[in-house]
Amino acid sequence: MNKTQPDPQLIAAAPAHALVLGELHARAFIEGGVNLDHENDKGITAQGNESWNAASIVATLSQPGVFGFIALDTALDTQQAPVGFVLARTAASESEILTLAVDPKAQRTGWGQRLMEACMAKARTVEAEKMFLEVAADNDCAIALYRHLGFQEVGVRKQYYRRQRTLMDALVMALDL
Ligand SMILES: CC(C)(COP(=O)(O)OP(=O)(O)OC[C@H]1O[C@@H](n2cnc3c(N)ncnc32)[C@H](O)[C@@H]1OP(=O)(O)O)[C@@H](O)C(=O)NCCC(=O)NCCS
Repeated sequence: MNKTQPDPQLIAAAPAHALVLGELHARAFIEGGVNLDHENDKGITAQGNESWNAASIVATLSQPGVFGFIALDTALDTQQAPVGFVLARTAASESEILTLAVDPKAQRTGWGQRLMEACMAKARTVEAEKMFLEVAADNDCAIALYRHLGFQEVGVRKQYYRRQRTLMDALVMALDL
């Protein structure tokens, strides 16, 4: 993919997509075994399955600086099935990934990377210099993707996520844009 051109299979996420994105998020996190339930301290719901329902996606997309992309797999069917999405927020020189989800049926085919690269490109256009994210310390797939993209661990938030009855640390990862 030419990084200077927009990816033609990614469209901008809008509040009207919230229902389908909420369902996609639940599939990715429940089937992927990373079902987390947590609200972070910034007032925006984090990666929790229960947190990222349609209403919270609408609310998040309505906040200043928030943007996102949806991946449409034209190869799957003529309805352009959405197979993944990412939400991010940029404020001043910093950008943050809020959530990322790829349908389990479409994982490991490059969508996660393409969605992340679209966010990185968009953040650069508004002159963000660093991108941050939080990821559950046991989410090996996501950590592998982020490392593959050049993110490095810069901190740990102890017992940040609640998963059923257990608490899970979050790694804070950062990338120089
Ligand atoms: C994490 C997630 C978004 C990755 O999406 P994906 O589309 O499967 O990832 P990609 O196919 O773009 O992978 C790109 C690279 O990341 C790494 N990677 C991704 N998934 C991996 C896995 N399961 N194991 C090892 N490496 C992996 C690899 O380096 C891969 O490149 P390669 O396939 O050429 O080896 C997806 O697994 C998902 O939705 N998981 C559930 C929800 C979640 O955990 N979201 C992130 C919360 S922070």
